[in-house]
Amino acid sequence: MARHKILRFLIFLIPLPFLLTQCLTESAPPPDPRGQLYAGPASCVSCHKDIYQSYLHTAHFLASSEASDSLVKGSFRKGLNEFAFTPNTKVVMTKADSGLYQTSYVNGKPELTRRFDVIFGGVKGQTYAYWLANELFQLPISYVANKHSWINSPGYDSTRAVFERAVNTRCLDCHMSYAKQEAPELPNFYSGVEGFEKNSLVFGVDCERCHGPAAQHVKFHTDNPTEKKAKFIVPFSSLSREQKINMCAVCHSGSGSPIIKPTFGFKPGDTLSKFIAENRTSAHINYKFLDVHGNQKALLESSKCFINSNLDCSTCHNAHVNDRDKLTLYALKCMTCHSKRSHTYCTLTGKFTETMLTNNCISCHMPAFPSHTIVAGQQGALVHTHHIGVYPEETQKILAYIKAKKAY
Ligand code: HEC
Ligand code: HEC
Ligand code: HEC
Ligand code: HEC
Ligand code: HEC
Ligand code: HEC
Ligand code: HEC
Repeated sequence: MARHKILRFLIFLIPLPFLLTQCLTESAPPPDPRGQLYAGPASCVSCHKDIYQSYLHTAHFLASSEASDSLVKGSFRKGLNEFAFTPNTKVVMTKADSGLYQTSYVNGKPELTRRFDVIFGGVKGQTYAYWLANELFQLPISYVANKHSWINSPGYDSTRAVFERAVNTRCLDCHMSYAKQEAPELPNFYSGVEGFEKNSLVFGVDCERCHGPAAQHVKFHTDNPTEKKAKFIVPFSSLSREQKINMCAVCHSGSGSPIIKPTFGFKPGDTLSKFIAENRTSAHINYKFLDVHGNQKALLESSKCFINSNLDCSTCHNAHVNDRDKLTLYALKCMTCHSKRSHTYCTLTGKFTETMLTNNCISCHMPAFPSHTIVAGQQGALVHTHHIGVYPEETQKILAYIKAKKAY
């Protein structure tokens, strides 16, 4: 009888630890593809809720995503869902239960259909990629926001739909937080093709992409909830000015710089020149050549503000907040150094109200120029230069505009 009882007790006990581990693994966030040193952005929410929530509205969060109906911005409405190359060559964008597709047609006959699998961007424009085995290729048609229209992907043949341009590690380097490279599965019939483990992609520029691996930080603070001083994370204030700037320059010093090794592993404090050989041809620092893939770092460093002060990217940008188009907010950053009382205020002559100046600080001193890559028809998306300076032509345009509006 006693034996019986023990047995029953044991049977009752056995599933318990099993159930417990099941509960634990269900509530813990899934392991991060970057390995055990990384915790993944979802694990930051519990202690940094405000930062996390406002981060979801930034361009960095949108830098890349898995394609979905709600994230692809171009229109799928009949009449608006086509891009014609020639009178008899076009691409049509369609929706189906299995996803969103681009299909090329020649003389009314469908030729090739590929799915929207990965999205790059979501601010000025978007470009898309599809999987073929473990390789990524760019779709022929991209999207431009200022015209809300589909366009031929930048740099493509203007007479036919191109499906064979490979998306390489370099794009992912700046637009994603991680992708594990592997040997390409298909015969290498296109040059430059690389393979990726599909499930390893970490979309967007996430917390740990900027701050470095934080699993130990999460564990320590979870175990020590009363500790208010950050542990096991690089404090921003401990970095030199150059290191602070390089936290951004790893992706903001132009796409033309040769790569030494993929930058996914770059952490705050690392030496940037071990990852990329920054290319500083005049084209990169001439403000006329700036673009979405231009060199914000070099442009900024060529400015007197940079040379004569200690500013870095975070003097003006809060990496966790979407401040897009808030030009008067940026003007206030200028005025932390160029205040009315200091001798370095604006020397533009004429009777200008404070509001007129602050509303247009950026337009006159960091003017926006049209992009040469994100273009619909004649109109390129506008990109601000980071060469802060005096631009007489832009000043004339702004003054004429203000006069016409009688705004001062
Ligand atoms: C269990 C709580 C907890 C979790 C989870 C947590 N942190 Fe923290 N973190 C803290 C505390 C406490 C501080 C120190 C106070 C502060 O700055 O908010 C801190 C500070 C920081 C700092 C500022 C460092 C400095 O001094 O400049 C960064 C960056 C940071 N955490 C990143 C992260 C990231 C990324 C994640 C998710 C991967 C994360 N934290 C998850 C508790 C946590
Ligand atoms: C891992 C690469 C990477 C790092 C590191 C990075 N950025 Fe970016 N940043 C991007 C990409 C990619 C975009 C464009 C995303 C998009 O529009 O979809 C972007 C966009 C931006 C924008 C435009 C925002 C907008 O709303 O249009 C600003 C400003 C910016 N980054 C500033 C910074 C600053 C400041 C830092 C350093 C603290 C930094 N970035 C670090 C890749 C990066
Ligand atoms: C050196 C880093 C870097 C590389 C390499 C890079 N990008 Fe970008 N990309 C950026 C940054 C930074 C921006 C945003 C700049 C801005 O807002 O002015 C951007 C903008 C874009 C945009 C517009 C996004 C938007 O929301 O407006 C698209 C689309 C894009 N890149 C696709 C690509 C593709 C495809 C590749 C590979 C062929 C690539 N990028 C390579 C950093 C990079
Ligand atoms: C584009 C790069 C970038 C991304 C992405 C990013 N951060 Fe930061 N973060 C910074 C920089 C730069 C600072 C230092 C700002 C300063 O002190 O001026 C900072 C500061 C912090 C701080 C300390 C200061 C504060 O504002 O409380 C915490 C905590 C933090 N980040 C957490 C996070 C978390 C959590 C995420 C993801 C939800 C995240 N960061 C995403 C660049 C980034
Ligand atoms: C951290 C301080 C700081 C910030 C922030 C700052 N500047 Fe400056 N700026 C300076 C210093 C210092 C100089 C050099 C003054 C001198 O030469 O006497 C300068 C120079 C200039 C010049 C003269 C440039 C030339 O080539 O002659 C202009 C114009 C200017 N700043 C505008 C701005 C604007 C607009 C902003 C905001 C977008 C800004 N600054 C932000 C410190 C700053
Ligand atoms: C003196 C202030 C200032 C500093 C310092 C600064 N920026 Fe900016 N940045 C701006 C302003 C103003 C804009 C235009 C914002 C807008 O239109 O929403 C801008 C826009 C951008 C954009 C989007 C480009 C565009 O206009 O579409 C990127 C990317 C960017 N900054 C990156 C950086 C990086 C990286 C650094 C450091 C190397 C940096 N910024 C330093 C003021 C600054
Ligand atoms: C309508 C265009 C316009 C606006 C708005 C404007 N500026 Fe200026 N600013 C100029 C011009 C043009 C000059 C050169 C004036 C001259 O020397 O004749 C100048 C000169 C300057 C200088 C001195 C440059 C030097 O050579 O030392 C600084 C600093 C400056 N501006 C900062 C600002 C700041 C900060 C704001 C916003 C509060 C601002 N400006 C608004 C057009 C403008």
